[in-house]
This record gives sequence, structure tokens and C-alpha cells, in this order.
Amino acid sequence: MFQPVYLDHNATTRLDPAVLAAMMPLLEGQCGNASSRHDYGRRARLAVDEARQRVAAVVNAHPTEVIFTSGGSEANNLFLKGAAATMKPGTLAVSAVEHPCVIKPAEQLARQGWVLREIAVDGDGRVRADDFAEVLLTRPRLLSVMLANNETGVIQDVPALASAARSTGAWFHSDAVQALGKRAIDFRSLNAAGVHALTLSAHKAHGPKGAAALIIDKRVEVQPQIAGGGHERGLRSGTENVPAIVGFGIAAELAAQRLAESSARVQALRQRLEAGLNELGAMIFAVNAEKLPNTTYFAFANIDGETLVGKLDREGFAVASGSACSSANPEPSHVLRAMGVAPEFARGAVRVSLGGDNTETEIDQFIHALRATVGRLQGLTAIAV
Ligand SMILES: Cc1ncc(COP(=O)(O)O)c(C=O)c1O
Repeated sequence: MFQPVYLDHNATTRLDPAVLAAMMPLLEGQCGNASSRHDYGRRARLAVDEARQRVAAVVNAHPTEVIFTSGGSEANNLFLKGAAATMKPGTLAVSAVEHPCVIKPAEQLARQGWVLREIAVDGDGRVRADDFAEVLLTRPRLLSVMLANNETGVIQDVPALASAARSTGAWFHSDAVQALGKRAIDFRSLNAAGVHALTLSAHKAHGPKGAAALIIDKRVEVQPQIAGGGHERGLRSGTENVPAIVGFGIAAELAAQRLAESSARVQALRQRLEAGLNELGAMIFAVNAEKLPNTTYFAFANIDGETLVGKLDREGFAVASGSACSSANPEPSHVLRAMGVAPEFARGAVRVSLGGDNTETEIDQFIHALRATVGRLQGLTAIAV
């Protein structure tokens, strides 16, 4: 079967064969419910506990700080709504470039009496220190700033922001979903700097969809958003998705083992890609910021991103326009809007996110296809104007 070249690893990644192999017995005969008292149940519980230890070890957290959820979206909702439910409404601040699964729950809280403050970013997508300082003067109770952005790949200086926020007594959360497998994550040192909770998700790092975690400092009180049998220390009820949780543990471990090699590899591929994009006259976003090694976000003036992605798909290349998670939404990306990118470029945004198995040949073929496609579309634009 024809397999297009996959260049959309920030949307999701292929399941690693070793992850699938570890999951298979649990999808077949070992069907136990981790709460059951018989042998099947005990084995399932052991498998969940081992996975918890693996995930904790990878991010230097204690296993009791790992709360498994169904996805990064659920973990972000659990932190924001769960922590807010234990407090009197006050100010809640989130960066303007957060994923919708942080922005939307924050907006829900704003409808319930919280004051929502967006933290501004600069032209390269980094949180502006002056605006963050202003936010701190409002004595926020909850703060959320992501470690790495899904569209631009921009890395925020979360330790510095969290340290600055300490004196306010706010709980500080960081969405680290895009960092797993692309950058070392150390919860203990982030926690020492003032970060109280982190979100991770398996499917961004060659694990299965449907397993994720909120890593949380036990001093933070959160109210469960799913009540029931009291699973996950009472913070997230629901029968554990044992195969996916086991897959998450193995994927996290493999990601950590391969991190140095794979980030050097994708970084070199990204440089090759960006050299090609510069030759074609593309505008590359967030060039001055520190970024994930695998992510390039670019546009050509007056070429619609959706159109370009569709044409590249027909040429055999899978890339994303704007944020993959919101590609059903034709609005220009809120991330680029927050960065002050002009609409003619923002509407053209295309994201390439590389993975460890992409090759130099694939990059060269992609640039070749892009050159031809952009040339045709620019020709059409010239005729139309
Ligand atoms: C930065 C970020 N946070 C959260 C999520 C949501 O994670 P999940 O797909 O596991 O719900 C995504 C997914 O695209 C993401 O990129």
C-alpha cells in the first residue's frame, strides 16, 4: 500500500513495535481489571504499578505523583478545573499560546466567576517577561504555561517563570505534552523551581492513544472531575486502560533512552528542511526562539495553508496547517495571532514536525514537491490579481 511520508509527529506518532509487543498480552488473554482480587486482577494492578514507576522515573517524579488519565486534554482539564474547585474564584492566568484544552477550561472557569488573564507572548512566541510580571501583581491563584508549543515548537522558560511566581502562592501548571521524547523533563527540578503539576501524553512519543498523566505535587489539592470507584488516589475514577498505560510506560522509557540520539538526528533534518525553505523564500515563524528539535512552522505570503496542505497530501506528504488538533477550524491560528503575525502569513501557516524515522531523502523530496506546488499556486495567484 502507498504510504505518504509522515511529517506530522506533533499531531501523533506511530506506535513503537516494542510498545505494541508489551501491550499485546494485555489486549489478548491478560484481560484483568486492576481492581479485581483474583490473579488476573493482581497481574493487571502490577502492570499498572510498573508503568507508573516507569513514567515517574522518566520525568524524575515519585510514582505516587503520577495520576493516569485518558489523554493530555483530560489531564489539563483535571488540573485547572480540579484545583479551581478547591478555591474561592480569583485570577487564573494562562499563556496566549496554550493548547485549546487549557484555554477552553480556563474560559469555562471565567464563566463561573474566575478572572481569566491571558499572558502575552512576543513576536517569537515566548512569554513576555514584562507582561508576566504584571500578571503576578494581580496575585493569580492558578497559572498555566506550556513547556513547548505544539504549533511553533517554542520552548518557554518555565523554571524562570515558576520561580518568579513563587511569592504569589499560585499553583503553577505546565503542559509538557509536546516535550515528552523531544526534550528532557525533570519534575523534581521543575518542582523545586515552583512548578506544581505537569501534563504528559503517550501518543506524542510513540505510545498509544488513550493514556496520559498529570504529574502533581501532593500539596496541591484537586477535586476529581470524574467521580466513581476512586481509582488513581481518588482523583480520577474509571477502570484503568491497562494495555494503554503499559504502552505509555514502555514508550516513555524508550523515549528517554533515545532522546539524545533522536533529537540530534531530527535537529539535523530540520536544518536541512529550513535551508530548503529559506531558498524557496518561505517565512519561518519563531526563528529567534529556542524550539523543539523537530518542529518547523512556515508560510508563503498569500498562499492558503489549507490549500497547500491538501496539495502536498496529494503529492504524498502528510503535514499540518495551523494546529493539527484544531484543523477542523479554518480560523487563523490563535498562536500566530498572539505573536502578531500578519494575517496574510498566518492564513498560510504549515507545520512540519519530524520524527526519528524520517530521512534526508524524504526532506529533499518534500522540498522538491513544495517548490513545484508553491510555484503553481503562485502562478495562479499572479493570474488572479
Ligand atoms: C500541547 C498539547 N497539549 C495537550 C494536547 C492534548 O493531548 P491529548 O491528545 O492526549 O488529549 C495536545 C495534543 O495535540 C498538545 O499538543
